Amino acid sequence: MERVIIFDTTLRDGEQAAGGTLNVNEKLEIARQLEKLGVDVIEAGFPISSPGDFEAVKTIAREVRAPVICALSHANPEAIDRAWEAVKEAKRPRIHIFLSASDIHRMYQLKKSREEVLQSSRDMVAYAKRYTEDIEFSPMDASRTEPAYIYQILEAVIKAGATTVNIPDTVGYAIPEEFGNLIDGIFKNVPNIGKSVVSVHCHNDLGLAVANSLESVKRGARQVECTVNGIGERAGNASLEEIVMAIRTRKDFFNLSTGISTTEIYKSSRLVSQRTGFPVQPNKAIVGANAFSHESGIHQDGVIKKAITYEIMDPKSIGIPASSLVLGKLSGRHAFKERLAELGYSLSEEDFSRAFAAFKNLADKKKAIADKDIESLVAEEQRTVSETYHIDRLQVTCGDRGIPTAAVRLVAPGGKVLADAALGTGPVDAVYKAINRLVKVPNKLTEFTVNSVTEGIDAIGEVLVRIESDGVTYTGRGADTDIIVASAKAYMNALNRLLAVKKAG
Ligand code: KIV
Ligand code: ZN
Repeated sequence: MERVIIFDTTLRDGEQAAGGTLNVNEKLEIARQLEKLGVDVIEAGFPISSPGDFEAVKTIAREVRAPVICALSHANPEAIDRAWEAVKEAKRPRIHIFLSASDIHRMYQLKKSREEVLQSSRDMVAYAKRYTEDIEFSPMDASRTEPAYIYQILEAVIKAGATTVNIPDTVGYAIPEEFGNLIDGIFKNVPNIGKSVVSVHCHNDLGLAVANSLESVKRGARQVECTVNGIGERAGNASLEEIVMAIRTRKDFFNLSTGISTTEIYKSSRLVSQRTGFPVQPNKAIVGANAFSHESGIHQDGVIKKAITYEIMDPKSIGIPASSLVLGKLSGRHAFKERLAELGYSLSEEDFSRAFAAFKNLADKKKAIADKDIESLVAEEQRTVSETYHIDRLQVTCGDRGIPTAAVRLVAPGGKVLADAALGTGPVDAVYKAINRLVKVPNKLTEFTVNSVTEGIDAIGEVLVRIESDGVTYTGRGADTDIIVASAKAYMNALNRLLAVKKAG
């Protein structure tokens, strides 16, 4: 069976989603999970775009060995040099060069003629070839470009050494049949197309990213660019899990395979959601909370009699934990460790001890500890490991008669202890004002949401905040059974991220 190359761009296009910024450690953690998932290519970042991105690509290239590690680059020598510098230690490095091709982009943004774009595309692929054999080229906004011009560019870049040519539907404008016809046209009209892999990169502005990708695969494309949970610029990219499971579930139709270990899908989805702060909608195909839950009586009856009546995929094949064993106060280290392993975590001894202490602490407050509680507390522990400022104490008074007041004590770099208090319009406002008096970083709170991790009055509350500073959005998360404490942790987490980015330059 022919294989479709899965090119994951969660860490590049996915991270471009507003507010989805990840730090180097988080990117490395996701890259390691993508390796376990079995993606063929990881697009690790866009090195020229920021020192943080450069560092992330470099670290991933050094540490993650099985997949091809790809760095995105503008079509100019400086960006290509930087991409190579970041990716050169990879076992199998790739440079991905893009340049706008459509008249709209050329005329209004680049202000370059067709000849100039054609020349730069060809020259920059040839330039990058000095560094590595594996070069990908994307004529940006291809779906709004005259096909004959795309054929011309592709022929030129393949002649210059491009080993993959990627056809982006940059603004999610294409309709499946039309996009499929473009792919057909490429195979028919680019004489040297056999020397290169044809790839597609579809955005979801009209909700058609997966449909367009699958149509292209049907017409001969053999690489699909996609992201976990479909995150990405604006409405996102084609969702990896939907593409992979469509190809697998409808083998009879596609007669193709991928190298993905599908049992790692659920875990990858949870990890990306946790680290980016983008929740997965309950009705999301494959990984949504309701994707395998049957509500209507007739469906439940059918599934009990024979799952295939209403389930086209086995939830186990996606790695959704089979049992929802509940731990509690009396569960020991061993039971906790086993449950962590079943959920796919392998923590160092030190991290395990911290997580176990947090588990015991939680078990004192909450009777039944479900898988989602464990995921939440492990994430909380991991978040706090590399903090600049750490919340040491927090005390709040509020109510319908009093003035909301918060006293906060923080541990600052070097172990210095800082404390202050503030009044606010409510307890969260008071806490944030007290923290601001200590940390003194101007920012604007743009989003604040609270969700309970499980049902029940004793549930953990997870708070997500987004703050904006100098036009950049930073996400923070915090979890606790006390939602004011969770709110403080989330704000602290966002501020710590902001400070880390400012420090990196
Ligand atoms: O959407 C797009 O066109 C891109 C390119 C860089 C491939 O992300
Ligand atoms: Zn894109």
